[in-house]
Amino acid sequence: MKNIVVLVSGGGTNLQRIIDCIRDGAIPNALISLVVADRDCYGLERAKNHQLPTQMISKGSTFSTDLKQILPENTDLIVLAGFLSILNKEFCDSFTGKIINIHPSLLPKFGGKGMWGQHIHEAVLAAGERETGVTVHYVTSRIDEGKIILQKSFEISPDETLQSLAEKIHTIEFEILPKAINEVLGIPL
Ligand code: GRF
Repeated sequence: MKNIVVLVSGGGTNLQRIIDCIRDGAIPNALISLVVADRDCYGLERAKNHQLPTQMISKGSTFSTDLKQILPENTDLIVLAGFLSILNKEFCDSFTGKIINIHPSLLPKFGGKGMWGQHIHEAVLAAGERETGVTVHYVTSRIDEGKIILQKSFEISPDETLQSLAEKIHTIEFEILPKAINEVLGIPL
């Protein structure tokens, strides 16, 4: 069994997708050993509704050291699924190749500090991009710069709105996040 820890800050629809994929066997031989939130959020409720172990660690300068202390020893993978705190260098360096993040743009475009959630979609539309997409990448101490695992793009339609863009992004996230998890865990795509 592979042990996955999921970090959330928001609604947790990507967490829900991981839960569903494990249940359906689309992510085989894996379990979520812990869900950690850095603030009160619906993602935490989802985890509790599924009887998953949860922990709340308030966001702030000690988050990474606090997380390191409670992380199950046998953790194979840490998934940042809509997680907004920045993990410090020491933490990232001690779990190289074991932390992944899902980001709603075609990195390296629209990544880095301040590029999260709706800000990204606004920036993409304002820039008049013809396409956008989703990236799953390894996490390093440099924000959104780790090696790309999977990326999928789609064309932006002329009448695209923030809401339609966000919906399309979520659909692609739900498709590529489980694939990326399987790939990192060594399960063939
Ligand atoms: C997703 O769009 C993800 O790419 C980004 O934050 C959002 C989280 O959504 N990092 P949810 O909390 O999984 O619903």
